Amino acid sequence: MEADARSVIKGDGMGIQFDCIVGESAAMQEVFRLIRKVADADSTILITGESGTGKELIARAIHKTGKRKDGPFIPVNCAAIPAELLESELFGHEKGAFTHAIRTRIGRFELADKGTIFLDEIGEMNPSLQVKLLRALQERRFERVGGVKTIGVDIRVIAATNINLEDAVKESRFREDLYYRLNVIPIHVPPLRERDADIPLLIDHFLGKFCSGGETSVKGIEEGAKMHMMAYNWPGNVRELENMIERLVILADGPMINIHDLPDKITCDIDGLADGDGASHARRLPERGVCLSEAVNEYEKALILQALNRTNWVKNRAAKLLQMNRTTLIEKMKKQNLMNSKDASPLLK
Ligand SMILES: Nc1ncnc2c1ncn2[C@@H]1O[C@H](COP(=O)(O)OP(=O)(O)OP(=O)(O)O)[C@@H](O)[C@H]1O
Ligand SMILES: [Mg+2]
Repeated sequence: MEADARSVIKGDGMGIQFDCIVGESAAMQEVFRLIRKVADADSTILITGESGTGKELIARAIHKTGKRKDGPFIPVNCAAIPAELLESELFGHEKGAFTHAIRTRIGRFELADKGTIFLDEIGEMNPSLQVKLLRALQERRFERVGGVKTIGVDIRVIAATNINLEDAVKESRFREDLYYRLNVIPIHVPPLRERDADIPLLIDHFLGKFCSGGETSVKGIEEGAKMHMMAYNWPGNVRELENMIERLVILADGPMINIHDLPDKITCDIDGLADGDGASHARRLPERGVCLSEAVNEYEKALILQALNRTNWVKNRAAKLLQMNRTTLIEKMKKQNLMNSKDASPLLK
């Protein structure tokens, strides 16, 4: 099967890569399963998830895996094209249809014939165009702007959004009938903070990508730095992680990326280390488990570092914040190898 040719299978038989998508969390395994199941069908797919979770990557993988793979994949970003131009962008226009229509132009629906059209950020489409889109989706027929001839196409439709369309329907910003027409096969991609089992794999994947040019001395990443990255909450999801690895590969000091190379937002992300309501300071247990003593150690270090930064490295005040006496703090700082900038520590970047 084509899908298997594109998969990377781990020793235990688990698929950890599908096309360019990597992931071993239960959530990504479910996404891989769905891609395999739906790739050959023509049903409309709605991919939902926060920005940077990999929605476009999934849409492309579905197209490349399915029976339409030799046809075109045509993406349209509904939010990036001004509302007054989007109709002609999608359906094309006839010469003279409006002031600047000096010649007939074919739209993305026609370009996608025998292939897939990817309607990205569909939630941003204005209501009058939503009506026209609904008809085009239902009948696979439409007219170019200013045209009378009805054009039929053979396309597969994949839509994506990072807004909650059910809320948009309730607030009358999105047509309910169009929502049901799109949501035939829903694929939800959870945010990265809810699938930290994927983080080490993604780190290695991007290290492979950015270290392969041979222009960098970076060879890998230390376990401690990985732990911090797993605890961080990644508001920009995989895109943020990818950009960070690209930067670390260029800026890291030694062959192994360590916690001193990481930006403060990661090493001091106490919210990421605390659980959801922030009331308890217990770290979220990653799906793949954790080395407890190492995690406790890293957590202690992150809290001490926060206290020191907050008090401008005045140890008396930092010790007070941590409810310990100054000598205990100094002992712990020595043990954790924490020094301030005057001691030429790389920590205060
Ligand atoms: N599971 C993954 N494996 C490998 N790379 C990934 C994965 N998820 C996302 N990426 C990478 O992260 C970046 C963002 O992914 P993508 O553009 O598909 O996200 P998106 O959900 O469409 O974001 P947006 O809503 O902002 O358009 C891309 O460079 C993509 O290659
Ligand atoms: Mg996208």
